[in-house]
Amino acid sequence: MAQTKKAPIIKPFNAVIFGGDGDLAVRKIYPALFHRFVDKQLNVDFNIYAITRSNDKHVAFNERLRKFITESTDYAVDQKTVETFLKKIIVLTLPGHSIEDYQPLKIELDKNPIFQNVYYLSTPSDAFGEIGDALNACGLINESSKVVLEKPLGNSLASSRHIHATISRSFTEKQIYRIDHYLGKETVQNLMVLRFANHLFESAWNSEHIESIQITVAEGLGVEKRGEYYDNSGALLDMVQNHLLQLLCLVAMEPPAQLDADSVRNEKLKVLKSLRLLDDKTVLTDTAKGQYTRGKVDGHSLNSYLEDISKYESSTETFVAIKAHIDNWRWKNTPFYLRTGKRMTKRYSEIVINFKSVKHNVFHAQGDIPGNKLIMRLQPEERIELVQMTKLPGPGGYRYRPISLKLDYMDSFNERFPEAYERLIVDILRGEQTLFMRQDELEAAWIWIESVVNGWKKANQKNILYEAGTWGPGEQIMEENHTWSTNPKFNEGV
Ligand code: BG6
Repeated sequence: MAQTKKAPIIKPFNAVIFGGDGDLAVRKIYPALFHRFVDKQLNVDFNIYAITRSNDKHVAFNERLRKFITESTDYAVDQKTVETFLKKIIVLTLPGHSIEDYQPLKIELDKNPIFQNVYYLSTPSDAFGEIGDALNACGLINESSKVVLEKPLGNSLASSRHIHATISRSFTEKQIYRIDHYLGKETVQNLMVLRFANHLFESAWNSEHIESIQITVAEGLGVEKRGEYYDNSGALLDMVQNHLLQLLCLVAMEPPAQLDADSVRNEKLKVLKSLRLLDDKTVLTDTAKGQYTRGKVDGHSLNSYLEDISKYESSTETFVAIKAHIDNWRWKNTPFYLRTGKRMTKRYSEIVINFKSVKHNVFHAQGDIPGNKLIMRLQPEERIELVQMTKLPGPGGYRYRPISLKLDYMDSFNERFPEAYERLIVDILRGEQTLFMRQDELEAAWIWIESVVNGWKKANQKNILYEAGTWGPGEQIMEENHTWSTNPKFNEGV
């Protein structure tokens, strides 16, 4: 995201990773720190502490770490740099959360009292309170300390409030960084630049000009090894509550007066509070949920969800589509179609702005003119497309069809794209909170999500089964003449 002023410098730090030998830490956190280190962005004194519960895994941990760091590197790095970085990671075993248990950490952190301490809690949320209390009791929290919280941050409004209450015993809101890694993705941040640095788009960014908006986050993968977590959560809580709603906020919010954390988050909060709640009637017309059955992709057979989680039955949804409405001046009558699912045809995420058609068709002999589309593709390839009507060459009257103007991010900027976690971790070290959710945002998101959950329960809404490797049952919520962008008819010309 563009900065209004020069980015603050990074001060010397201790990064303390709780759950330090866990999957997320090894796959995302250390590699992110490593790439920023290689890029000389961490050009200050720092230490990394990997906090584990038992010390019998140390050797295996080091091997795993080396493997992930090396594998996450898509450019040439000499082995010396890898070794220098690995030496910075000190593994500490803290068996519990008493003051005595935390002494090894206290001894380490007290060696550098002027460093900022960044506590990254990559643990289940029920440990947050105890960790904060123990750090506090050991005198390890001061004004410059920060705490980073990983999802899931509860599974309801009440549990999210409870988590907040436990962590606020030790940290203030200004010290809390709630990670949503979607906000660290390049194209997601580019959305802010596209909207607020281009008059052309912003002047048409409302329901006068926009018919509908589609936000799709489709995944090719299934639940992999996370069946237990996923079966208690489902697509709505796992993806919509955080990632899709954050994307919706960035698309729908008013321009903030400035780019500071509170101005941006205030605008996002207004969007979340304007979301129309659903109930047992509207869920039936405006939502679809599904679960994948066996299927095939590229000739490979795929298991069903129940086979993946080794259960005979489950009502958990692996797909959800919602027609959402934002009840405010800007978006009156412009539906936002949200869709996400596992085991879909392929990994494919995009935001599509569907503009209205021209007010008067002077080419009526040629049939209807579809509206322009602005497509922001987030992954796998990152690009922006503007679909516009173009005359077909040659005589014989005005024949036209939709053609895309394409801006391919990779081709335009011939450089490495940092991973979302790299950007977010650097922001944390700089004390920049714009890309992190505030508690009031989280609560507003939960209120809307709970209206869907309760609507589903009351209406006894069942999953629609879809074959693995397909686009799922999203068409159910589409109005007549509307299709998802992944449908081949979407870009069909006149
Ligand atoms: C995570 C979800 O937050 O996001 C996963 O828990 C999901 O279920 C992942 O697979 C998707 O992230 P990305 O960056 O691969 O689109």
